[in-house]
Parts: sequence; structure tokens; C-alpha cells
Amino acid sequence: MLVSAKEMMQKAAAGHYAVGQFNINNLEWTKSILQTAEECKSPVILGVSEGAGKYMCGFETVSAMVKAMDKSLGITVPVALHLDHGTYDGCYKCVKAGFTSIMFDGSSLAFDDNLAKTTELVHVAEQLGLSIEAEVGSIGGEEDGVVGMGECADPQECKTIADLGVTMLAAGIGNIHGVYPENWAGLSFETLAAIKAAVGDMPLVLHGGTGIPDDMVKKAIDMGVAKVNVNTECQLVFRDATRAYIEAGKDQQGKGFDPRKLLAPGAEAIKVKVKEKMELFGSVGKA
Ligand code: 13P
Repeated sequence: MLVSAKEMMQKAAAGHYAVGQFNINNLEWTKSILQTAEECKSPVILGVSEGAGKYMCGFETVSAMVKAMDKSLGITVPVALHLDHGTYDGCYKCVKAGFTSIMFDGSSLAFDDNLAKTTELVHVAEQLGLSIEAEVGSIGGEEDGVVGMGECADPQECKTIADLGVTMLAAGIGNIHGVYPENWAGLSFETLAAIKAAVGDMPLVLHGGTGIPDDMVKKAIDMGVAKVNVNTECQLVFRDATRAYIEAGKDQQGKGFDPRKLLAPGAEAIKVKVKEKMELFGSVGKA
């Protein structure tokens, strides 16, 4: 059931659990995540970066695929189709394509510019009944060529953006996209506490979910994180399972080269990973 992320975010924040955002890259990814959400009776957010959207032939194609798949698989749990780290133009394209949720990432802009554009997009989202995520203080690491420094957000800026009426707020607390370096300092719970104190009930978003130790994720959820984004971890398990299949020579046996067989172990590995994350985030049975 395709919905805005508004209600699932409010329920998660009130219930002290988090909804997972899992990024999609193709049909197999989408199918694995939707089937797992249904099996776990968990709400879910399908994240689409601008790069992945382009790869999948544009947001219109993604939207049509997700809507049709949601229907043909008979998905009953709430599913939000969400633009991840959207540009100003990207947000309008996704609104037009029928996404149910957008993220405007103005964190690389001057704060006043971020504020002005977020204000406008909050208004658009409100009018159309969509959810909207905003970002303050960039998230570290690299995603689709966008490199952030892993800075921590300023709590006062977080409050200013939260007060605009965004649905959820991504605020840097030392988190990084991709695999964490050996010398990573960990999440800054001090920053998270200060942000939470400034923004009150606003559901917070933890980007860079890959590789954060489970105890840190749980603590962050206890402290107000209501959405955790995971992308790289699904890519890694997909790679590992596909590699194992080929290295075992299974693609050389019988019809093992059939793409439906070749991609099956990777798709299965994504399901296992998504289920593990839903259990960790506490969203199982919350649909
Ligand atoms: P990871 O790739 O580190 O899991 O981060 C995903 C993310 O934050 C998407 O916005």
C-alpha cells in the first residue's frame, strides 16, 4: 500500500522504534524489500537516489514499477516511495512522477538558501499530502558522487528547519555513507541529545546505516531516531552472494546462467539483510 511516510514516522517516533529506508537499484532489489516488509508486517520506505533513478530510466519508470509491483504482490503494509538526497529540481520531478515522499537535501547550500528552498518544498508537499525530509549538516562519506565531511549539525539550525513543518529531519551526528573507516569516532550522542532537545517530537533520520554497531543504532533510536537509512549493506551482501554463486561454478551448470537463477542468491541475501535490520530497528509487526 503506497502511502506518504507521515503516519509511519509519527507512530515510530511515539513507539520508540525506527522505520528502515532501504535504497532500491532495480527490480530485484524492490521485490526483495517489498516481500520482506510484507513478511515482517513492517512499514518500509523505498529510497531512490537521483543516480539510481537515472539508472532505472527516470523517476516515472521507478514510480510505475513500484506502484505496479506493490499491487501485483498484494502488499498490505505501508510503503513510502521516497526520493533520497534530492536536489530542488529532483524534488519537483518526483512530485510529478507520483512519489509519496521526498527528501530535499539543501545541506551543501548556504543555510539561508536551504531554509528558503525547504520552506517552499514543505508547502508543496503539504498541499499534495506527501511527506518531506530535510537535512541540516551534511552526512559524511560519498553517495552518488556527493561527498560530505561527516560534520555534526547545529541544533539551532535543526530547530529552524524542523519548525517549517517537515515530516522528518536528517541531521549529521558524525554518521557517514558507505563503509565506516577503521578510525571512525562513532556517533556523537552529545550532538543527538542537543538536537533532540531543540526539535522536540520531530522524527530524526539516521543516514549511513551501513556498519553502525547495533548498540549505537539502538541507542540512537532510544534518543529520537525514527528512520534509519541502509544502502551499502544490501549492495555488499548482494555482491557476496552473487560472487559465491559464480565462484562455485553454478552459472556453468545446466541453466545456471539464466538471469533469474543468477540473481536469485543476491536477491535472497537482500531479504535476509532487510529482515535483520527490521528486527534491529524494532519495526517488525508494526504495520
Ligand atoms: P549507507 O549506504 O551507508 O547504508 O547509507 C545509506 C543512506 O544514508 C542513504 O541516504
